[in-house]
Amino acid sequence: MAIYKFPENFTWGAATSGPQTEGWSDKSSFSIYEHWFQTEPEKFHNGVGPAVNCDTYRKYKEDVKLMKEIGLTSFRTSIQWTRLIKNFDTCEVDPVAVEFYNNYINEIIDAGIEPYINLFHFDMPIELQNRGGWESKEVVDLYVKYASKCFELFGDRVKKWCTFNEPIVPAEGGYLYKFMYPNISDFKRAIQVGYNTIVAHAKAVESFRKLKTGGEITIVLNLTPSYPRSEDKKDLEASRIADGIFNRSFLDPVVHGNFPEDVVELLKNNDLLPEYTEEELEVIKNNPIDFLGVNYYQPRRVKAKETEVDPNAPIMPETFFDYYDMPGKRMNPYRGWEIAPQVMYDVAINIRDNYNNIPWYISENGMGVEGEERFRDENGVINDDYRIDFVKEHLTHLHKGIEEGSNCFGYHLWTFIDCWSWANSFKNRYGFVSLDLETGKRTIKKSGRWIREVSETNQFEY
Ligand code: GAL
Repeated sequence: MAIYKFPENFTWGAATSGPQTEGWSDKSSFSIYEHWFQTEPEKFHNGVGPAVNCDTYRKYKEDVKLMKEIGLTSFRTSIQWTRLIKNFDTCEVDPVAVEFYNNYINEIIDAGIEPYINLFHFDMPIELQNRGGWESKEVVDLYVKYASKCFELFGDRVKKWCTFNEPIVPAEGGYLYKFMYPNISDFKRAIQVGYNTIVAHAKAVESFRKLKTGGEITIVLNLTPSYPRSEDKKDLEASRIADGIFNRSFLDPVVHGNFPEDVVELLKNNDLLPEYTEEELEVIKNNPIDFLGVNYYQPRRVKAKETEVDPNAPIMPETFFDYYDMPGKRMNPYRGWEIAPQVMYDVAINIRDNYNNIPWYISENGMGVEGEERFRDENGVINDDYRIDFVKEHLTHLHKGIEEGSNCFGYHLWTFIDCWSWANSFKNRYGFVSLDLETGKRTIKKSGRWIREVSETNQFEY
């Protein structure tokens, strides 16, 4: 047994998003998710859509009380573009939504919890998707208007802002691998979507600084560190390319202000470069983030391409590498994701050595488990010891990175209360607090009691 003590002021929190918790009562309009659910409900686990979710829209007071009870010192959620804004072109706000977000934010602050407010969590308004979504520069500018409106409305109290959650996901899910609306597969379009999102991010950061409301701004990136099958040159090369496409092409512009040269070269050689202007590149260059949010769930294991590439097949990231199914890897069978806690250390060292040792935090990490009801005891508490172990294990590796100088200041679990997931609905549960879907009743899990202790003492034993 050892004691893992964390730096003073280390923040212990949890993350969620508006579209996954609020429910859609009183919304001005719908996002792609709500639209998709209405048109193809069978695509969602058990046909459960985002209509009610946790009903945080009505129950936020109860939820904030629970956050406090489990000792959280910070909490991330997102504002929904489709709730706040009534007219996307004029940026006219819905006063009912302004009141809701004001009340919610005030409640969080009054409980002594620091709100981290994110502006986009996959929830493109369907109206703007129909006008081109992230492929359209006009939509980029409308996003910047909306972001600026949020800074103006809530910037007197919110001091930690986030422009986007996982900007690669709408690009790969919506335009490559078809797990998100509009379910297209076209690498070139996906690159334009990714690039335009970075432009939107940088322009929002620029506007944030102009408005001088105070505070700091970030972007949340889901990093999937690449590991080659072997030290063989070709495997290393495959790993470098995968890392470039999935990690560095987002990390580099937001921290360093430019795109990685090897990725630009690869795109150029394959006629995949997005449409860009010198002015956009300038905005990206001049607006680095203040701190970084990292969602870490799993690594990406790759090997050199083993099969011949069909010259007539559409080009994909996998044209340049193959996935490597590493024997003996630990898996979370419910989510199908590898469990590799030691990667936390590599993430910490990578940021320290290659990204100016920028202040950063784990903005999401966690474990989705199906059928957690079987762990509920006679007192109604879910005994999720596996989650406590999962978090402890990840934190020991993070701790090592911090000991070696990485500038990490916090850890957020995904998630605070069991919430709705994209397509998986409520299949896998992730929260410190359980949600009874029938009654809406919330109950603190064993992990919720545990995190309170950790937060109070700033340490744990393992
Ligand atoms: C992340 C995403 C969250 C949540 C989580 C667990 O990629 O940001 O919205 O769904 O995965 O599946």
